[in-house]
Amino acid sequence: MSILVTGGAGYIGSHTCVELLDAGFEVIVVDNFSNSKSVVLNRIESITGKPLKLYAIDLLHREALEGVFEVNAIEAVIHLAGLKAVGESVDNPLWYYKNNITGTLNLLEIMNKYKVNKMVFSSSATVYGASSSVPNSEDSPLKANNPYGRSKLMIEEILGDLYRSNPDWYISILRYFNPVGAHESGRIGEDPHGIPNNLMPHISRVAVGRSDRLSIFGSDYDTPDGTGVRDYIHVVDLAKGHLKALEKINRVSGINYYNLGTGRGHSVLEVIKMFESVTGRNIPYSLTNRRPGDIDKCYADPTKAKVELDWVARKTLSDMCRDAWRWQKNNPNGYEG
Ligand code: UD1
Repeated sequence: MSILVTGGAGYIGSHTCVELLDAGFEVIVVDNFSNSKSVVLNRIESITGKPLKLYAIDLLHREALEGVFEVNAIEAVIHLAGLKAVGESVDNPLWYYKNNITGTLNLLEIMNKYKVNKMVFSSSATVYGASSSVPNSEDSPLKANNPYGRSKLMIEEILGDLYRSNPDWYISILRYFNPVGAHESGRIGEDPHGIPNNLMPHISRVAVGRSDRLSIFGSDYDTPDGTGVRDYIHVVDLAKGHLKALEKINRVSGINYYNLGTGRGHSVLEVIKMFESVTGRNIPYSLTNRRPGDIDKCYADPTKAKVELDWVARKTLSDMCRDAWRWQKNNPNGYEG
């Protein structure tokens, strides 16, 4: 029996595939490579010494996707495929809804048809929106602020309705906080197209000389040093969380929601200082205006994942910076060179 990982060539997907293969699972990846490169799969295989099966398929291509279920015995699906840039989703909401929602509906209908009823879904802390107070627990109010976030929230609701219509589903919804870092081999990591939207890849690109300086978006937030506070979580800890969620859905039916975060917040300035001290690189920065849609602070209450999944994030901010830098230094142009 195999685990199907949609978006398995992406940043979180590639690290999740490594953990799955290391744990002895057979892995099938479906990816349309819209934001990833096929060379990632070779790297996963060389890190783990194990093969995986790849289908270069878009979830919108229903027939092709159905073909994967026809010829493979799939036990569960880890569903990570989706578009994820907030600004892009504001500019082009229909594209986001079509990809994220229709892609998921295709997948769920096919899973229903082939009686595959176990799913781990990649959601985001973005579903807590700006209104709730920190730390966010799974029962904090939900309110997404942009089409990307709303697509995650809508999928959570679709999965809830699906479960209510058929309690024989086994669903785990993982709400990621801010995934950063890279595999400690330095062979897989985050490789955003164009100018990175997120903090850590931007810092790494400044460190490696691909960008001159970092803009800090806002220094007048209600936080100890005025810069935004987030719960950064090492991507390998996050990947391990998927395996724990898989173990859980193999045991118990139902739909469950889990925060995957460390429970600690760090400001933008703290991240920069830590990166500088771990790597010995200087990160020039300018204090600029707030980025529209940003909130002052966001961090998890990760108690539920600890109690129910026996999962805790173990890696520190120093580990995250060290591993992000090793990846960037070894691959200054990402997977391109
Ligand atoms: C962002 C998304 C969020 C998504 C997450 C995925 C927005 C508004 N939010 O979260 O929906 O789920 O990525 O990882 O895009 N920062 C700078 N300079 C930079 C980049 C970021 O100062 O060049 C600051 C931000 O203002 C924020 C912190 O760094 O305070 C983290 O930003 P980022 O990595 O983009 O993550 P989020 O905004 O938390």
